[in-house]
Amino acid sequence: MTAPKIAPSHSSEPIVVPVALAERAYDIVIGRGAIATLGARIKALRPNAKTVILTDVTVAKHHLAKVESILASADIANSHIVVAPGEGSKNYATFETVCEAIIAARIERSDLVIALGGGVIGDLAGFSAASVRRGLDFVQVPTSLLAQVDSSVGGKTGINSRQGKNLIGAFHQPILVIADTAMLDTLSPREFRAGYGEVAKYGLLGDADFFDWLEENWRDVYAGGPAREHAIAVSCRAKAAIVARDERETGERALLNLGHTFGHAFEAGAGYSQRLLHGEAVALGCVLAFEFSERQGLVGGNSVARVRTHLADAGLPTKASDVQGGVPDVDRLMELIAQDKKVKRGKLTFILARGIGQAFVADDVDAAGVRAFLQEKISARDSE
Ligand code: GLY
Repeated sequence: MTAPKIAPSHSSEPIVVPVALAERAYDIVIGRGAIATLGARIKALRPNAKTVILTDVTVAKHHLAKVESILASADIANSHIVVAPGEGSKNYATFETVCEAIIAARIERSDLVIALGGGVIGDLAGFSAASVRRGLDFVQVPTSLLAQVDSSVGGKTGINSRQGKNLIGAFHQPILVIADTAMLDTLSPREFRAGYGEVAKYGLLGDADFFDWLEENWRDVYAGGPAREHAIAVSCRAKAAIVARDERETGERALLNLGHTFGHAFEAGAGYSQRLLHGEAVALGCVLAFEFSERQGLVGGNSVARVRTHLADAGLPTKASDVQGGVPDVDRLMELIAQDKKVKRGKLTFILARGIGQAFVADDVDAAGVRAFLQEKISARDSE
């Protein structure tokens, strides 16, 4: 897909991105103030549904009253469940609490669960919806940039096992996603920047024109005008196209994991804590994936420098020494990579690149080469 050099002029009409999944097709509605259309859109999709909203304490403070009043104005019965914010809520205990609360709210097969929050809430609400009464429909109202461009779209839902992230879950597509870009105004600058790591990822993996556009316009994306809506729409279109072709990740969908293999190792090494947010880990992981691709002779010219410079300009970590509190040693990093991805006879699967916008799945990457590369990266520290 091609991004225009100049973002389209601001329009009060939301941008609608369809996700073409036959009987599971749905729209992603993107725009400043798009939440105002929630009631009418639910009425059109499920005229008699009552709803239960799952949210967290922080998001509830900013947005719950408004969402409740929008639903009430459309005569849609609603109740809510509020959980603690953070990754810790993606556990068995909270999943049980949420499922029991959905049943107690008398939500039936013709009713709806609404996920109002970031990625944790979307994953937890989606998996609870997939499980209660063998499958309830749900609507995503993502309130973080990361959730608007990634986790609310595509139907991956789940919770964490004691043995790893997202190991318990289901593919369960929402029936509607409303990404109100004004809701991002309440994010901390750091949280917003972390989400931008996933936005840049779409340019890097398959759309060089979009990456060019981001290099010129990222400040406007941060500022919150029409450029923000445009960047979110391009990201969602890219994800929707990949998901429509490979819903269950048997092939191409793995490209969305660009930056995630290296990134997850550093994220897990930092204990999935505030030391390194997920989107920050993805940004660092994208730089490492490009640097490693260069090492393999796959990518040349100034591509790697452009990736590094752009993500650093946008305020994201691009080298191991940017991780607060330091990083694990190479043995631990390799252990974490092996846990994340299957190692077959000393070979690893990585998403590598032949250039900006030209990512591909490489399933025969030599583990010893990765180890030597990482060793160099974590000892070089500030040399880049
Ligand atoms: N976040 C990667 C995917 O949805 O496949």
